[in-house]
Amino acid sequence: MKQISTKDGSKTLYSEKYDETYHSVSGAVEESVEKFVKPCRISELKNPKVLDICFGLGYNSAAAIEANQNIEIISLENDERLFGEILKLNPNLKYYNLVKKLASNKELEYEKDNIKIKLLIGDARETVKNIKNKFDAVFLDPFSPKKCPELWSYEFFSDIIKLMKPGAIMATYSCARAVRENLKRAGFIVKDGPVVGRRAPSTVAIAPIV
Ligand SMILES: C[S@@+](CC[C@H](N)C(=O)[O-])C[C@H]1O[C@@H](n2cnc3c(N)ncnc32)[C@H](O)[C@@H]1O
Repeated sequence: MKQISTKDGSKTLYSEKYDETYHSVSGAVEESVEKFVKPCRISELKNPKVLDICFGLGYNSAAAIEANQNIEIISLENDERLFGEILKLNPNLKYYNLVKKLASNKELEYEKDNIKIKLLIGDARETVKNIKNKFDAVFLDPFSPKKCPELWSYEFFSDIIKLMKPGAIMATYSCARAVRENLKRAGFIVKDGPVVGRRAPSTVAIAPIV
């Protein structure tokens, strides 16, 4: 797969299938930290359980571990061919070696000290239905709503919110009106996330405390 340099110096990949890059070209690592890890307040949470939807190159998971080393992550991804690509990348993320270990470990699990990460391979719309855990934070990072509408749907969001603890935050880069409407219909409280690398904000969707 073709590697693309982004403006923060980190590399991402280009997907021919979706005709999109795996991260914003304004900065791949920056996007993971600023649009996912910080809005979910990963560094402030005590032993957070994180659902990483669309593991991709593992930047979001690695950035989350860098923010908090007492963490449990479940990551969803349907494309195992990415593992070979992960081994060729060297983003400026302190714990990316764990992502590489995971990509070269057939059991798709890594546990050491207080860091636990498990990869569930398959269509996220199906794997999400088999998860029993409850999460403090969710990263929602599919390709764009135009190219991958199935992961921005009301039905999918309804399955995700069931897995979130009250007050848990889901962060995503899109602020598309249709996405926000689907989030609200599924029961989320929707707010602007940070503005990073472009004029529009990202989105944070909060599971209500009732
Ligand atoms: C924008 S990339 C994710 C980038 C990733 N979060 C990172 O930090 O490197 C989107 C990912 O969603 C995956 N994907 C697409 N459709 C999917 C589906 N139905 N279920 C699970 N993963 C899917 C793609 O294979 C791709 O790796």
